[in-house]
Amino acid sequence: MKKILVTGGTGYIGSHTVVELIGAGYEPVIIDNLSNSKEDVVDKIQAITGVRPAFYKVDILDKEGMDKVFSAHDIFAVIHFAGLKAVGESVKLPLKYYDNNITGTLRLLEVMRAHNVKNILFSSSATVYGTPKTVPIREDFPTGACTNPYGKTKYFIEEILKDLYVSDNTFNICLLRYFNPVGAHESGLIGENPNGIPNNLMPYITQVAIGIRPFLNVFGGDYPTPDGTGVRDYIHVVDLARGHLLALKKIEESANGVYVYNLGTGTGYSVLDMVKAFSEVLGRQLPYKIVERRAGDIAECYADPSKAEKELGFKAQYDLKRMCEDSWRFQQKLK
Ligand code: NAD
Ligand code: UD1
Repeated sequence: MKKILVTGGTGYIGSHTVVELIGAGYEPVIIDNLSNSKEDVVDKIQAITGVRPAFYKVDILDKEGMDKVFSAHDIFAVIHFAGLKAVGESVKLPLKYYDNNITGTLRLLEVMRAHNVKNILFSSSATVYGTPKTVPIREDFPTGACTNPYGKTKYFIEEILKDLYVSDNTFNICLLRYFNPVGAHESGLIGENPNGIPNNLMPYITQVAIGIRPFLNVFGGDYPTPDGTGVRDYIHVVDLARGHLLALKKIEESANGVYVYNLGTGTGYSVLDMVKAFSEVLGRQLPYKIVERRAGDIAECYADPSKAEKELGFKAQYDLKRMCEDSWRFQQKLK
């Protein structure tokens, strides 16, 4: 059984990926410092899969801690989710973001190299494209014009990984650019539960639905989009998790290199489309108000997913209704 080290494996996308890895016969080994997740996620993964993955409370800044984990396990590949991801916080605390995300990745790569582990999938983001000139967005569009430190950490790490491959072509690297992950595992046991006021749309919607917040603020009603609200490519987190299995297969089977894929559905939905779809699942109208635009937001962002489909065989399965149903089930089960 191949062992896959999953950094950030108790987080939102990481935990769903661990479930899929177990289902596909891999042996995940999780490291996470629990800065944005809880250890009981390991119990939930066990409840879903019947298998308890190895878990280590280790920070990716802690080289010695990681060294011990790599010494204890014969790791085939690393899926690197660990990172801080709050855009607003990154503007206020850029050094914290550069240190955690970039220095943390450098430490991880050093330990990987010391243990001769050369396969890595990296969690990148559509944010690396900045404001795209056109949509849908292809992988060969320019990157780097990011408007905030969080986005820049993703761009810089992509560049670091490319340079690493140039220096040592025994590395096999896959950069996965996620669009907007939403939804939760169908069990309702794992999902996204942000601390404080949610920044992202779907967790805000579910908190309005459950009564924690009175209404949704729709940021901007005057974008050059069909209904004036922002358009994004929402992808079910389980589809996204499955994309990692296909990417893993790709690096198992292909020559070494740096592979880059968008993981999205290719369909853009507006904020009001999301409100409508969620209201249908809820069985009543979700209250909302159209307010000012949010600084830094773009009008439209959705993937051209054809490269991932052609080269990985990746195609998202779950529709918007399913994304809303699963997000809502998870919110309702939260205590
Ligand atoms: P998350 O916060 O739920 O998961 C990240 C995990 O990493 C958390 O469990 C956190 O405790 C852990 N972590 C953070 N810093 C660490 C450190 N120094 N050492 C060890 N563990 C650490 O976030 P997520 O939504 O699951 O995102 C996973 C990855 O995907 C992140 O790198 C994120 O930037 C990227 N991404 C997320 C989205 C999204 O919308 N959720 C979109 C694009 C890219
Ligand atoms: C945000 C981040 C991006 C990150 C991505 C995934 C910003 C500026 N961008 O992208 O860097 O990679 O999350 O984590 O934060 N919306 C509302 N009301 C809300 C929340 C959101 O109307 O309360 C709208 C937004 O204006 C946008 C859409 O919903 O049109 C999606 O927003 P969000 O979920 O925050 O994702 P992104 O802005 O795409």
